[in-house]
Amino acid sequence: MKTNIALIGFMGVGKTAVGKALAERLNWKFIEMDLLIERKAGKTIAEIFRQDGEIAFRELEIDVTKEVSQGDNRIIACGGGIVLNQINIDRLKQKSVIIYLTASPIVILKRIQNSGDERPLLKTPDKTLKIRELLKIRKPLYEQVADIKVDTSRLNTDSVVGEVISKLKEHESFNLSK
Ligand code: S3P
Repeated sequence: MKTNIALIGFMGVGKTAVGKALAERLNWKFIEMDLLIERKAGKTIAEIFRQDGEIAFRELEIDVTKEVSQGDNRIIACGGGIVLNQINIDRLKQKSVIIYLTASPIVILKRIQNSGDERPLLKTPDKTLKIRELLKIRKPLYEQVADIKVDTSRLNTDSVVGEVISKLKEHESFNLSK
């Protein structure tokens, strides 16, 4: 039986907002992986990318995934690139049901437009193109590892949480008593 929930998906699909709301609803602990990476590095994600590069960021991501994938009653919001290293997925899968949140590229663009410096991979003049390029590589990976998939494009946070909970109740490797 799985005792944790990991939220995966592209930047801007709502992993943090949904994760927080889900944690509140279930009275579980919410863990934001990006925040733990920043704490570990002693700098922001943007600074890590700028000063140390993406590979250094991915190494920190692997370390933090190892730390958070144990324990129980945890809602883990993963960074969008978590699927790029299979070891992360192997570790998460030990105890977590993997919930894949999706949104259309247009919706993603809208949601990330105001995030400023926060998302270094999208600090590029043609964000739409970048989103499409990254999605082309990542979509098959997200699809492959997901236990449950929810399209958030037309839903608010509460509706996504409702849908996640109803799908979790039907999931054979998860016992949601609430
Ligand atoms: C990344 C997504 C970000 C953050 C970093 C890299 C990615 O997290 O981990 O900027 O590779 O998609 P969010 O998905 O929470 O924005």
